[in-house]
Amino acid sequence: HPHFHYREGELFVEELRLTDLARQHGTPLFVYSKAAMLAALAAYQRGFAGRKAKICYAMKANSSLALLQVFARAGCGFDIVSGGELERVLAAGGRPQDIIFSGVGKTRAEMRRALELGIGCFNVESEAELDVLSEVAVALGRVAPVSIRVNPDVDPKTHPYISTGLKGNKFGIAHDRAVAAYQHAAGLPGLKVAGIDCHIGSQITEPAPYLDAMERILDLVEAVEAKGIRIGHIDFGGGLGIAYNGDQPPAADALWQALFARIDARGFGDRQFMIEPGRSLVGNAGICVTEVLYLKPGEDKNFCIVDAAMNDLPRPAMYQAFHAIAPLRAGSEGARRYDVVGPVCESGDWIARERELAVHAGDLLAVMSAGAYCMSMASNYNTRGRAAEVLVDGTQSWLIRERETPAELMRSERLLPGS
Ligand code: LLP
Repeated sequence: HPHFHYREGELFVEELRLTDLARQHGTPLFVYSKAAMLAALAAYQRGFAGRKAKICYAMKANSSLALLQVFARAGCGFDIVSGGELERVLAAGGRPQDIIFSGVGKTRAEMRRALELGIGCFNVESEAELDVLSEVAVALGRVAPVSIRVNPDVDPKTHPYISTGLKGNKFGIAHDRAVAAYQHAAGLPGLKVAGIDCHIGSQITEPAPYLDAMERILDLVEAVEAKGIRIGHIDFGGGLGIAYNGDQPPAADALWQALFARIDARGFGDRQFMIEPGRSLVGNAGICVTEVLYLKPGEDKNFCIVDAAMNDLPRPAMYQAFHAIAPLRAGSEGARRYDVVGPVCESGDWIARERELAVHAGDLLAVMSAGAYCMSMASNYNTRGRAAEVLVDGTQSWLIRERETPAELMRSERLLPGS
């Protein structure tokens, strides 16, 4: 992770010492590198150079407003999955026409708001949703641009909870029903077919599933267009993995070079291409700094109890995910094997297992690769306020989210009357 590096034994983010940031803002603390975000984006931009293309950041990965601002200013659109995310894009200065709306369960109210604002496209995931969207659009006197999310049925070889393009999960419309669904959509008064969409899963580390999925999507574009329905854009979803533990996912530019070789060979190079990357834009641009509270040696295991927990970093508990742990001050003297765990009252509240660490109470550790699906999935379990966030740009840093206070956590609650 070139933007997080040791200098004379101390961990830095860009030009700033992480220990200084932790002292200033407290822990647990998420710290993001703007340069790392823009470098990740640049790999996609290189892959799309000279093409009609739009990169729509899948903001579910991290929806903090300042991060959205960085991507909006860099020319990105946004892939949203709720009315809440829609309001976040607007608050961060994103343009409605650069928004695509994914998700299996859009409500009528969400559709209405998105139509009134004039978003770029609805990625529709079922026949029933096509009918409802058309109805809502007609009632507003609008026409909804749609693409149908098709399930290409390829195995992305990732964790089952984050694989989405196989038969038998709730996402998308089956490949063999897609042509009929497009014909249905084309006949509805409130819809205009704009494109096609797919998403095969997340944390994909091999190119093969992408290449297979692209062939299957192009087959469908041919079949749909043979019925006289024009597919203006091809949205290839997100999913490119990052290195958590020595994984070697393809680079975005190399992957798209390989994909465009196929696309051009089949004569579809003139279409507009869209993608919805989340994790690969922010995952390795962020870390979580946490303080060691207690060491608890044991017969079977040694525990290193830190002040971050599963409410801040839910991925290990949910997916047995691996996050590397890096001490803010390098050193290996007196190293022991530890399970790194948080203060939450659950056995599932672990952050890392069986790691060699040379630590003492009061030391600071960085949980690496924490930019994606950590803060955006954080909860208030055990009435723990969500952590603070800092964005670093060179020698400058900005507090982009204050630590949540108990008063804020209770703000929307009401006590019963009487005594
Ligand atoms: N587009 C759609 C329709 C999606 O469902 C997703 C992610 C993305 C784009 C972005 O995928 P990415 O580029 O980030 O892989 N919480 C899990 C990951 C869930 C992914 C859900 N969908 C985790 O922490 O691993």
